Amino acid sequence: MIGRLNHVAIAVPDLEAAAAQYRDTLGAEVGAPQDEPDHGVTVVFVTLPNTKIEFLYPLGENSPIAGFLEKNPSGGIHHICYEVDDIIDARDKLMASGARVLGTGEPKIGAHGKPVLFLHPKDFTGTLVELEQV
Ligand code: CO
Repeated sequence: MIGRLNHVAIAVPDLEAAAAQYRDTLGAEVGAPQDEPDHGVTVVFVTLPNTKIEFLYPLGENSPIAGFLEKNPSGGIHHICYEVDDIIDARDKLMASGARVLGTGEPKIGAHGKPVLFLHPKDFTGTLVELEQV
């Protein structure tokens, strides 16, 4: 069902420092910050040859990653995103197997402009999983 690893998302307490480290120390291709008000985050994409890293920084009052950064003040891996061909088909199969889909269960448009869903970390080895239809 799942295809490529689309990205690994890392919540960071300092977006500029994270971007500078990946650009200047690790020599990666680092994009400009983008505000995603619908998701309560500012994101920076790092493009690697085989996948992407997505830095997440809180935006606005009720950012979904504010609590994560409180628990992980140095930052940390927030979620991993796998590609799927058909997000509704994937959702229905996963729910039938007992997995919990976060929110309403309806896909939202994610940071890349494609439909996404999140799966409960307790159902997937303690890791928040995002599915993105490509
Ligand atoms: Co993501």
